[in-house]
Amino acid sequence: MHIDVLERYWLIAVGAMLGAFMAALLASVLIFGIQLPSPVGRVDPQQLDKTDFAQTGLRDTGKGHYDMYIVAQMWRFDVGQKGSAPAEIHIPAGSEVTFYITSKDVTHGFIIEQHDVNLMLVPGQIARASTTFNHAGTYHIICHEYCGTGHQAMTATIIVG
Ligand code: CUA
Repeated sequence: MHIDVLERYWLIAVGAMLGAFMAALLASVLIFGIQLPSPVGRVDPQQLDKTDFAQTGLRDTGKGHYDMYIVAQMWRFDVGQKGSAPAEIHIPAGSEVTFYITSKDVTHGFIIEQHDVNLMLVPGQIARASTTFNHAGTYHIICHEYCGTGHQAMTATIIVG
């Protein structure tokens, strides 16, 4: 079969590019340990009061580590705070926090400013991510998944100090 010389170059270029992509993918998994976030578990969104999410908020697990349980719902993050004040989480500087989050109603987003936490909160699924808050400051949590008319107001604040 005759293959035109230009066509041959393109085939080589495409093959090399696919090889480079595959190598990058393998390197990210095998060398850098990057993995897709996977659901930690399932809950019935209608019966969260029978799960660990019955009591939201920060739990001290010792040695500078905390677990933080949050329930997302239209259009706020329940961080275990009473009343209708804007949601605030107070964390001592230097703490490592593991977030466990789920949604009560629709799919929400969860991103923490200046930290490597970026989750999608799907009803029925528990999302988990850990990060360390080394620097004192105020960091916003933002819902970055469109979830209805109050979406743009769905925020919370982490105060590290
Ligand atoms: Cu919740 Cu957008």
